[in-house]
Amino acid sequence: MYKFIFFNIENTLFIIINKAKLKEEISISNFNIKEIDWNECWNKTRKKYGKKKKTWNDVAKKFNLWEKNDDYPEKLINKMDLDKNDNVLDLGSGDGSVTLKIAKKVKKVTAVDKYKNMLDLLKEKAEATGINNIEYMEADIKDISLKTIGEYDVILASRSLATVKDIKDRFIEFNKIAKKSVYFSLIGSQPDLHLKKVSELLNREYKQVTPSIYAYNLLHQIGIYGNLVNLGCNTRHQYEDLEDAYSRLDWKLHGIENQKKELVMDFLKENIIRNEDGNLVNKYSKPDWVLIWWNKVHDDG
Ligand SMILES: C[S@@+](CC[C@H](N)C(=O)[O-])C[C@H]1O[C@@H](n2cnc3c(N)ncnc32)[C@H](O)[C@@H]1O
Repeated sequence: MYKFIFFNIENTLFIIINKAKLKEEISISNFNIKEIDWNECWNKTRKKYGKKKKTWNDVAKKFNLWEKNDDYPEKLINKMDLDKNDNVLDLGSGDGSVTLKIAKKVKKVTAVDKYKNMLDLLKEKAEATGINNIEYMEADIKDISLKTIGEYDVILASRSLATVKDIKDRFIEFNKIAKKSVYFSLIGSQPDLHLKKVSELLNREYKQVTPSIYAYNLLHQIGIYGNLVNLGCNTRHQYEDLEDAYSRLDWKLHGIENQKKELVMDFLKENIIRNEDGNLVNKYSKPDWVLIWWNKVHDDG
């Protein structure tokens, strides 16, 4: 269990995971709070995700169903301060579970995604629902800067920053691009029990990561005093059948050995249940999403 200690040093609020846990997680040997390089911590934790064999392009169509039972978009948007005249830059828009809802509230959304299949799905959905104020851009978040994209009222990076390297430079750039505010969400500190149990079954280490803590501390270190809230989502991933539930695990766990399939299928038989709507969902997994946001910080303070 993670333990948080809140304290102030030179007007900077740091959230510190208990020291031993932090050392274990990012292999810091010289633990001096003022010297911690939170960007380096971020990069190290990012590496723990490893490289998936399948990309978002490969799972785009599946993702749509897996995330169907998701109360996250509503909870996120309820926290955002949006105006009908806003131009919103949505980084890592995916197939639009959030983008489409935001588009109905603002003047224009520019949806940026690295994977064409995700943008194609978003386009299909927008056309089907008569939404015509979305601009599509196939690009990597790492290449987004004031120079390449210009100013926007609001930036959102919803569940899309986890694998982006050197987040410090991104945050500085986001602050330049945004005229009003920047919002981003990351996985929180509570373990994903579904993945954890399957990892144990496969004798693999369950890689607990806490990027939200590093991101929050990093922002403080560069003079951006953000806000942080756990969205308290109640999402259960949804599947067509057990094979479909298996394919999501296979993607998340970077491939499951063929000889272990039966073991995992037995687990799924017990741990994929029907909810009150009759849909097949995870018994355990309840994604823990943390939202962090700040209002533009001007150079003159
Ligand atoms: C978990 S989905 C989130 C989609 C949507 N924002 C939401 O919250 O439902 C992550 C999305 O971010 C995109 N993505 C991940 N890394 C990216 C990067 N470096 N540049 C652009 N898009 C990226 C993926 O292609 C995927 O569509």
